[in-house]
Amino acid sequence: MSTYTVDTGTSRSHPTPAPARRVTVPAIRTRKGQEPIVMLTAYTTRMAQLLDPHTEMLLVGDSLGQVIYGLASTIPVTMEMMIAHGAAVVRGSFRSLVVIDMPFGAYEASPEQAFVSAARLLKDTGAAAVKLEGGAAMASTVQFLVARGIPVVGHVGLTPQAVNALGGYGARGRSDAEAAKIEGDAQAIAAAGAFAIVVEGVVEPLARAITAAVPCPTIGIGASAACDGQVLVIDDMLGLFERTPRFVRRFDDLAARITNAAATYAHAVRARTFPAEAELYPVTVQPLPL
Ligand code: KIV
Repeated sequence: MSTYTVDTGTSRSHPTPAPARRVTVPAIRTRKGQEPIVMLTAYTTRMAQLLDPHTEMLLVGDSLGQVIYGLASTIPVTMEMMIAHGAAVVRGSFRSLVVIDMPFGAYEASPEQAFVSAARLLKDTGAAAVKLEGGAAMASTVQFLVARGIPVVGHVGLTPQAVNALGGYGARGRSDAEAAKIEGDAQAIAAAGAFAIVVEGVVEPLARAITAAVPCPTIGIGASAACDGQVLVIDDMLGLFERTPRFVRRFDDLAARITNAAATYAHAVRARTFPAEAELYPVTVQPLPL
């Protein structure tokens, strides 16, 4: 467990114990077939502080559209939202490599549009890499970004920004043709230079086959334990959402704990037992012991 001291000069909080230097893109590449990579989403400084000692990668996912803003999908998420939350997560993390999602509409038009958006995301947040959704059709864009010094994480299989085209969030790759298409997508993105690929919502044998086929690490979500790492949306993993998709394991039940805490607080306020004596400012301040 880390504790944090605020440096009032810089407003930056520093953890104790001091962390090692940040995980790098080449270090993630070397994890292919090695110890699994631990990745979680984070959207705020405090959550980044809490997760950072346990993760190699933090993803500022465009899932923040649903998780933070209550939107129906990731489609309306803006560059400004990604930048505000990306910068917050970078401020709260010291060890993990921070990856930031390219929002829908910020990269699909051309490699040049993607470069302008990716450069802005990295400059304005301090994140080390961007993630973008799509397969073979996005390979030339990935190549363009990588050639210009922008590390890219790919995202294949169930790609939530394509919800309108896919018709929902169901698992992908059940037919041989669809499985072959998704495996081809992963190979195209890997060949274009992605240093890792998120494989989301596909049947297990397909995730296993993709992991065997591509030279970079795969990060699974609703995919396979054979992937080179795993990612979950933090609010799902903590049990903050009512609906739990099949691929989510709840590692806690924070919704129930928050509900109980709020009810206990409400009771204390109504009973005038909060604030208590020790929670009030006395008129005279006790001198500190020498
Ligand atoms: O936006 C997000 O949180 C993601 C993960 C589901 C991989 O892309």
